[in-house]
Amino acid sequence: MARIAIVGVGYVGLTTGACLAQSGHVVACVDVDHARIEGLRRGVVPIFEPGLTDIVADNQRTGRLTFTTDFGEALADVEFVFIAVGTPMADDGRSADLRFVHSAVRDIGRHLMAPAIVINKSTSPIGTGCAISRILEEENPRLSPWRVVSNPEFLREGCAVFDCLHPARIVLGGTDEPTLEAVAELYADLRCPVIKTDLNSAEMIKYASNAFLATRISFINEVARICDALDADVSTVAQGMGLDPRIGQEFLRAGLGYGGSCFPKDVAALRAMAADAGLHPQLLMAVAEINDDQRRWVVERLERELGGIQGKVVAIFGLSFKPETDDLRGAPALDIASRLSALGAEIRVYDPVVRGRVGGAVVCSSVESTAESADAILLATDWSEFRGVDWNKVRSVMRGRLVFDGRNLLDPEQVEAAGLKYVGVGRGGRRLGSPVGVTP
Ligand code: UDX
Repeated sequence: MARIAIVGVGYVGLTTGACLAQSGHVVACVDVDHARIEGLRRGVVPIFEPGLTDIVADNQRTGRLTFTTDFGEALADVEFVFIAVGTPMADDGRSADLRFVHSAVRDIGRHLMAPAIVINKSTSPIGTGCAISRILEEENPRLSPWRVVSNPEFLREGCAVFDCLHPARIVLGGTDEPTLEAVAELYADLRCPVIKTDLNSAEMIKYASNAFLATRISFINEVARICDALDADVSTVAQGMGLDPRIGQEFLRAGLGYGGSCFPKDVAALRAMAADAGLHPQLLMAVAEINDDQRRWVVERLERELGGIQGKVVAIFGLSFKPETDDLRGAPALDIASRLSALGAEIRVYDPVVRGRVGGAVVCSSVESTAESADAILLATDWSEFRGVDWNKVRSVMRGRLVFDGRNLLDPEQVEAAGLKYVGVGRGGRRLGSPVGVTP
């Protein structure tokens, strides 16, 4: 059992703190957001994340997980301090904003009274770990030499608790084996591979992993465009590709492209690091360009199908950037809705979880009410709820007949059986009765 402090109680810090407490450690979470901390003390978890409320409550009850705004209190007698503050995209739209990381590091330097290992879990540009060491040495030379470790997170929104308790690997970057081994011990009960390396390589593993996943998505979206032009079905193509164990089935779902607070930011940050090093990251530039284009392509395709956008009513099913989250950051649906509005469309929106105003859109409380008088439906987020839509009922309230499946979630024949026109992303090639399926 270790005594741990977590600085930054957002999505990563809260999930990490609760899961470390679940492993038997004593964890004090500290944040400058008084309202957030007061809410957490009352059991209010401000993040929609399946399982998080329960694991936080369970560990608060045992006393292993506490929340405070007082750094002195949080850092008293700890052996490990995690930095888990946000690293949003900077105003320049390319690099990572490290203000919160630097502020957290200075707070740690000021308030830590005895040596502890400082672990950076915030996604940070290569070289941040070294910078953290320098700031700590300046801030508090009395505790020199400071031990700093990079321990990037690989949590997916919507399954962050699962990913935290069942990581595919633990990545640790540092300067000496005993320090890395001490941090590895925190995760001993998770029984997964632990990679120990230097600070820069650990930071690069995070960026390269996210950039590669984003590359797979832009790759399959480019293939989907070609499938559209050559009348082939990208879903079957992806399935056929994925049966090659070197390729695999994951992250080959064509659609509106990636959103979220990570992929767009991390691809841009890696591009910026490369450019600042005098390189020309062509592939990363293409990955981002294809992703941006996907949103434009959908609007152009809707314009073509509807014979223009002005005065049309478009119903958007799903707003969040992916299912099982209420996170709208980088959500393709928002980008597409504003493009359609700018072209004179009336937008109606429905999301199983997201509530509240969304730009000038009419926010509806059900699929059917969203579809009322709609000329077209755009499925923008692959919430499993949309698999069960009654398309006959939807058709009865629509004005038009178009269903644009932006996530290739739906069964085209089910939609077409209701007398609606199905358009997917690269879903050519299918003919009624054409051969379907894989024999193992
Ligand atoms: C991602 C990484 O998966 C995670 O390891 C990292 O720690 C944080 O960033 P997240 O952004 O939560 O996680 O979501 P993810 O499930 O990766 O999806 C990202 C986006 O890609 C979503 O908009 C999703 O709709 C899209 N996506 C995903 C596709 O368009 N096609 C796919 O095949 C998979």
